[in-house]
Amino acid sequence: ASASAFAPSTSNTRASTSLAASQVTRNPNFGKLVGGYLFPEIGRRRNAYLEENPEMASKIISLGIGDTTQPIPEHILSGLVSSASKLGTKEGYSGYGAEQGMGDLRAKIADKLYNGIIKSDEVFVSDGAKCDIMRVQQVFGSGVVTAVQDPSYPVYVDTSVMMGQTGEINKETNQYDNIVYMPCTAENDFFPDIESTPRADIVYFCSPNNPTGAAATKEQLEHLVKVCKERGSILVFDAAYAPFIRTEGVPKSIFEIDGAREVAIECNSFSKYAGFTGVRLGWTVVPDELTFSDGTKVRDDFNRVMSTAFNGASNIVQGGGLACLDDEGLAEINTLIDYYLENANLLKEAMESIGYDVFGGTDAPYVFVKLPEGKKSWDVFSEILEKTQVVTIPGAGFGPGGEGYLRLSAFAPRDVVIEACERLKVAMAK
Ligand code: MLT
Repeated sequence: ASASAFAPSTSNTRASTSLAASQVTRNPNFGKLVGGYLFPEIGRRRNAYLEENPEMASKIISLGIGDTTQPIPEHILSGLVSSASKLGTKEGYSGYGAEQGMGDLRAKIADKLYNGIIKSDEVFVSDGAKCDIMRVQQVFGSGVVTAVQDPSYPVYVDTSVMMGQTGEINKETNQYDNIVYMPCTAENDFFPDIESTPRADIVYFCSPNNPTGAAATKEQLEHLVKVCKERGSILVFDAAYAPFIRTEGVPKSIFEIDGAREVAIECNSFSKYAGFTGVRLGWTVVPDELTFSDGTKVRDDFNRVMSTAFNGASNIVQGGGLACLDDEGLAEINTLIDYYLENANLLKEAMESIGYDVFGGTDAPYVFVKLPEGKKSWDVFSEILEKTQVVTIPGAGFGPGGEGYLRLSAFAPRDVVIEACERLKVAMAK
């Protein structure tokens, strides 16, 4: 019989069996990644603690990953339920949808969330902002230089590494070669000094920010857009926390800024708006005017990725998205956000009452606590877990610029937040 293309060559059979290894070279970019992804790593450490201290299992409180906890409100839920029910009828059944999302939903996002400054065919509906960031990276490929706020949501850096845009990590600075880190700390009000930052092709910017909770002002975003434009960079604006903005005049979308249509992409998500972290629904806006240096439209390439490697968001879930954008749904979203913002306020007050400088938490669900000089955030994370059974996130998990800070998430039931405040006040008293 002729040898199968899939059979290992005879000389290697024994070796590969005993080593249980394939003959495929590992993607070297994955070898550059240091440790696992942040949130599973937090879960791993929590589980390791519980393995050693099983009697503490019922005491564990999570203020770690920003995962919504409140039930999906009635009107929004009815959208999910009715679109699921439709699938059981001959008339209502639907199969594959458009890869870019249902026309109605794209139009409603453009209308209700962007007041018409965006056209519906510039909106791409997806299964979430995190997945869209990887899709955006696929559009840009390996040849670009990326800039990130430091600290920032780890997906920007980790996907840049996976794509092969970076060198190795520098063990001294904890920064990857070929990524531009833009320091954002209390000293610069968590907004980078863009002028002194080297040029990058792609600039990732999240506002309200995860993890610092800082929401950039209109003037700051105007400056950011202006510099990106002058330098010919593309700005990828992550607005996943936009509905938490309560300060008058703070932009909820980059497209509120003049000129942004020629430089920016915006990623967004219903996860934190409507408790859809498990439901999965997001969108990305790629304006018609945004082009590469050869004049081709970025939107066309994003569309190519969406239609080749994605089959559209679930039709059930898109029904939920439509309900989110009804007046009743928008009101329910506001109530949910108010609830989490009150949690954030409680956390902020608790930490301030014991003498900490606390940032964020007013236009964002994250409270960013400055630790005493010399304290390492991973050590504080472990100390708090051991003393109080409260899971937090060390600032250093979001990049070297986050060292010396601790992030507390306001996504938890109220009684849990109140209990966490009491425990933290005792354990973290200076
Ligand atoms: C976070 O905790 O930073 C986020 O919830 C994680 C995410 O949205 O992927």
